[in-house]
Amino acid sequence: MAKKIEGTAKSTSVSVKKTKTATKDNKLPKITVEKPKKIIFLGSEAAPFIATGGLADVLGSLPKELAKNKNLDISVILPLYSNIANDFRKDFKFLTSFYVSVGWRYQYAGVFLYEYKKVKFYFIDNEYYFKREGNIYGFYDDGERFAFFSRAALDTIARLDIYPDVLHCNDWQTAASIIFLKGMYYGDENFRKIKTVFTIHNIEYQGKFGIETFGDLFGFSESVRSFVEFDGLVNLMKGAIEMTDIVSTVSPTYANEIKYPFFAHGLDAIIRRNERKLVGILNGIDIDYYNPKTDKSIFKNYSATDFSGKEVCKAELQKMLGLPERKDVPVIAVISRLVSHKGLDLIKDTAERILSEDVQLIVLGKGEIGYENYFRYIADAYQGKCSAIIAYNQDLSRKIYSGADLFLMPSKAEPCGLSQMIASRYGTVPIVRETGGLNDSIKAVYGDSGNGFTFHDYNSDDMLYVIRQALGLYRQKDKWDELVERVMKTDFSWKKQAELYEEMYENK
Ligand code: GLC
Repeated sequence: MAKKIEGTAKSTSVSVKKTKTATKDNKLPKITVEKPKKIIFLGSEAAPFIATGGLADVLGSLPKELAKNKNLDISVILPLYSNIANDFRKDFKFLTSFYVSVGWRYQYAGVFLYEYKKVKFYFIDNEYYFKREGNIYGFYDDGERFAFFSRAALDTIARLDIYPDVLHCNDWQTAASIIFLKGMYYGDENFRKIKTVFTIHNIEYQGKFGIETFGDLFGFSESVRSFVEFDGLVNLMKGAIEMTDIVSTVSPTYANEIKYPFFAHGLDAIIRRNERKLVGILNGIDIDYYNPKTDKSIFKNYSATDFSGKEVCKAELQKMLGLPERKDVPVIAVISRLVSHKGLDLIKDTAERILSEDVQLIVLGKGEIGYENYFRYIADAYQGKCSAIIAYNQDLSRKIYSGADLFLMPSKAEPCGLSQMIASRYGTVPIVRETGGLNDSIKAVYGDSGNGFTFHDYNSDDMLYVIRQALGLYRQKDKWDELVERVMKTDFSWKKQAELYEEMYENK
């Protein structure tokens, strides 16, 4: 039943049965599994336990969707950060503890279990690595922390005898698991049977460390050196791409884009070399979690069949942010991490021209200081037209998603992007650049079709042109309402996407 997965490279499905080590030309044998039953995800964050970005949304919702299939047994392994709320922790069940080797060190690992929505979440406890103030990343020893986690996860699997058919690792923080498994745990029959998936959520963050960390810190064996070494450094993402059975990424367009230098942050040749195992599957969103009909954060609930409540959301939002309460003025929202790849330079370039129109502009986000200051400045200069909130605030973001009319997301690169889907769910029409997942999820309005406004080149005039096009349509009330309805009805759920994952686990 090998249905083709959209946007993937052609698969040459030669199934080489297990051999113990990599061949001389550095090709690893391919693992095939019959219908996979047991899948374990590894990742560094998952909602609702711990969330700093899109990865958490995905690991909080894809496993849950897969678990609806009664034939599948789904688990997720996560670090037990001290920032995980006590509300959850108090119900965690202690299972076991053991010691894990991290290079020359020998570190404690405790394992806790918590079942949530039919998914088994295992948490790896080690206070030295995961009891930190504030953020969950950005520490001097992140390499060591996630090397520990990656190895402890494999040892947990062995210890609890929960060997999966598929081990699904996400981003650089869990890339080392694949390197350990394929390079060092391969002598063990139970590990050898596991098929691995490595998902790239963003190729920009590769997990690069000085070459001296190879043996000392990671404890890698010489047999994996050629996979892991790149540009004179240890590169965990590169190692995982080379050694895994399947590489996936979070949209078909991004799967294609990362074959080129502009998007690949140095790994384009590695991606091209591994193209035969590359798959792109667009993320979904949790449509129950993001649902204007039930969302408690928003001022009034509404749905695609009756979105009159959206007007109340808009008026209350305007009031709250000190903007004139005007029903007829289009409200453009930007909710984003304030970093360069989100396309903020285009917004900076055009903000004053946008604000010379009869519009209101709302910006919510934090990030690089230069952007933060710019948005503070522009909000100050255009009081009553522009409001900038320099923060990360879930509750406020929902109020903005529901109260705005247009959602601007002109990313330079966007592996998938979830905000354009969330905005759509709340009837806020996206304006996006045609890149990555934005290109796969938003189609330009044309006659009675399309669910947003799009432009191709990374160019502020092109962006301004489509913003003006959107403002033009906004003034045609009937047409606009039709568009809002269409946008709200676009299916961004995980249902179909999870099926694509199941096919990938089986066939690729
Ligand atoms: C990363 C990407 C984003 C994607 C998310 C989830 O945060 O930058 O585009 O939506 O991962 O896959």
